[in-house]
Amino acid sequence: MASQKWILMTTAQTPTNIAVIKYWGKRDEALILAVNDSISVTLDPQHLCTTTTVAVSPMFQSDRMWLNGKEISLSGGRYQNCLREIRSRASEIEDEKKGIKITKKDWEKLHVHIASYNNFPTAAGLASSAAGFACLVFSLAKLMNVQEDQGKLSAIARQGSGSACRSLYGGFVKWVMGNEKNGGDSIAVQLQDEKHWDELVIIIAVVSSRQKETSSTSGMRDSVETSLLLQHRAKEVVPKRIIEMEEAIKNRDFLSFARLTCADSNQFHAVCLDTSPPIFYMNDTSHRIISCVEKWNRSEGTPQVAYTFDAGPNAVLIARDRKVAANLLQRLLYYFPPHSDTDLNSYVIGDKSILGDVG
Ligand code: ADP
Ligand code: DP6
Ligand code: CO
Repeated sequence: MASQKWILMTTAQTPTNIAVIKYWGKRDEALILAVNDSISVTLDPQHLCTTTTVAVSPMFQSDRMWLNGKEISLSGGRYQNCLREIRSRASEIEDEKKGIKITKKDWEKLHVHIASYNNFPTAAGLASSAAGFACLVFSLAKLMNVQEDQGKLSAIARQGSGSACRSLYGGFVKWVMGNEKNGGDSIAVQLQDEKHWDELVIIIAVVSSRQKETSSTSGMRDSVETSLLLQHRAKEVVPKRIIEMEEAIKNRDFLSFARLTCADSNQFHAVCLDTSPPIFYMNDTSHRIISCVEKWNRSEGTPQVAYTFDAGPNAVLIARDRKVAANLLQRLLYYFPPHSDTDLNSYVIGDKSILGDVG
């Protein structure tokens, strides 16, 4: 490191992902190891994504981070785990033009500044922790010239937030819970890429952008401690659903895909109700959206739209094709007019996505 007056930075963009077979419950809190496998679809990065810029400079006195413009503390174990795992894999960089050389030893002493923005509501049940930690790990790995494959990076992102491991890939992604005690085999794998089923259109109906009262982390901790339904779900229900869902995705079988997606969302919210004290993530508007979709699907004789709700009231609606999506939007606007007391806005999202790299 010749001069002390340089700053090196990189920017990355990562989309969020929405689980169609949900992760809810940890068997190891510190390493973030799940009690069951999960499957998700990664959204189009244009619509819901995190953009993170990471910078390193000998002028920085400590590691610091700003989330949506406000400084946050990096002292939590999750941020520390991600930073440590990436730092320990940093490799030498040499930029002759700029006169910058950073050796492996230098990386241990250098501090980073991180600025991250979510272009969608944070902590409102739209998986901000997934896009956020995936982007943090991806951008740090790029900055520090980490030579690891996506699978390894997914295992590091997992230690920031479980759902984040799935945002390292586009398309349909499975988080394999794994067996190893140290979590080495608890990684994300891509089941199908973003082009595989591109007739699908995802519409997100933002019922409320307010921060939820119970974070996913504390909600699932309470469920693990108190819900018998969670035990039954993890052991008996999800393993079968994972096999069926993989098959449905592979065959682009919308009937099975919709049946499994809706059933799994409903069972996850049933587990929340089975928790003591019960957790209410959905509200009346969420319930009305479910009723509308169920009625429509029944009247057509075959599913047109699948719904799923994460840990929040916002609806993720998956239409079987563009025509159905247009029809769905019309129905949403009719039943939930904008600026009414339901506070419902809609975003149209294609399911295609890539891990964007704008730096
Ligand atoms: P969500 O449903 O939005 O994922 P969670 O309760 O799982 O809600 O997680 C929200 C937390 O994730 C935030 O309080 C913050 O700690 C973290 N988070 C959100 N966005 C980012 C980001 N861009 N970078 C790093 N951490 C983030
Ligand atoms: C309902 O990944 O946010 O969205 O691992 O504690 O950070 P932590 O929890 P998080 O939980 C996500 C729960 C979910 C389902 C899912 O994404 O699979
Ligand atoms: Co989350």
